[in-house]
Amino acid sequence: METLIIDQQPKAIDFLPLNGTDYVEFYVGNAKQAAHFYKTAFGFQSLAYAGPETGVRDRASYVLKQDKIRLVLTSPLHSAHPIAEHLKKHGDGVKVLALWVDDAYDAFEQTTRRGAEPYQQPQTLSDEHGEVRTSGIQLYGETAHIFVERKNYKGIFLPGYREWKSPYNPTSTGLMHVDHCVGNVGWHKMNNWVSFYEQVMGFKNILTFDDKMISTEYSALMSKVMSNGNGYVKFPINEPAEGKKKSQIEEYLEFYEGEGVQHMALATDHIVETVTELRNRGIEFLHVPTTYYDDLLSRVGHIDEDLEPLKNLGILVDRDDEGYLLQIFTKPLQDRPTVFFEIIQRKGARSFGAGNFKALFEAIEHEQELRGNL
Ligand code: FE2
Repeated sequence: METLIIDQQPKAIDFLPLNGTDYVEFYVGNAKQAAHFYKTAFGFQSLAYAGPETGVRDRASYVLKQDKIRLVLTSPLHSAHPIAEHLKKHGDGVKVLALWVDDAYDAFEQTTRRGAEPYQQPQTLSDEHGEVRTSGIQLYGETAHIFVERKNYKGIFLPGYREWKSPYNPTSTGLMHVDHCVGNVGWHKMNNWVSFYEQVMGFKNILTFDDKMISTEYSALMSKVMSNGNGYVKFPINEPAEGKKKSQIEEYLEFYEGEGVQHMALATDHIVETVTELRNRGIEFLHVPTTYYDDLLSRVGHIDEDLEPLKNLGILVDRDDEGYLLQIFTKPLQDRPTVFFEIIQRKGARSFGAGNFKALFEAIEHEQELRGNL
């Protein structure tokens, strides 16, 4: 499948230097149980906690870590809490994509000056381990970017959190860092958010998939991949497109009741081992038809991995000019068919698996059909 590579814009000064993803916060119905799930099933470790025992009266937050990935799982303690409203509307989902910066006050100034809607005014949080400065801007739907500046902080996570030492520590599954986070936005809204990332955040559009590339036989969508200057942070943006059947993006928008994060891609260096372990722990993945593997090597050329384990596990392969990648997608992580994880191993490739879209959409379409949403 063809991919449009757009990289013609003149290099500009990076007014919003980003060091990477700081954390991803989910609002969930029961953070205590969700933390157990992400530890047990995905191999995250207990890192930090905030709640009534630490003086936070209205919510509980569990912070989990695996290598460089930090997840925060937050639940409200009262029905009148704004987080409870968020949950009622959206179900479990991603609230915050936090970005690690050197200057959170400047990040706020630079982005709001360029038109970002403030989400959280710059603030300085401190405890005996130092200080953290944060600020935030509004993203699509009710999602937000929080800028986190932690160069003067030695604590476990953020002021207000205490270390969470647990006697229950399932082993890692080899997940290392956040590769990208994808947003689903409404009909004809993709280019608005592309402009937001370009103008407000100083990102570039590095890849575009239009609805002709993503076959209209299947769940049609359009997608543009936005990357920051150093490439550490990538946010593809999807919008639904007209197809013969209901777009998977439409299904998401219907069940999330608005725009939001569709998936987080988590990187591993050993995808066969990682996915084997995740399956053993009960994680369910999308199944592509086994015929996908019949002509795989003629499509992607030589790969280091044996074909058989990839086929048994349902791992997909795609190649671009710079190398290849292996990827697989979980089923939704909650009952609403909304957010899911991608597990990805890059072997040179910097693209996103466009060659797998058709096989993948057939698999998604099958799941939509089972849910009666096609
Ligand atoms: Fe992805």
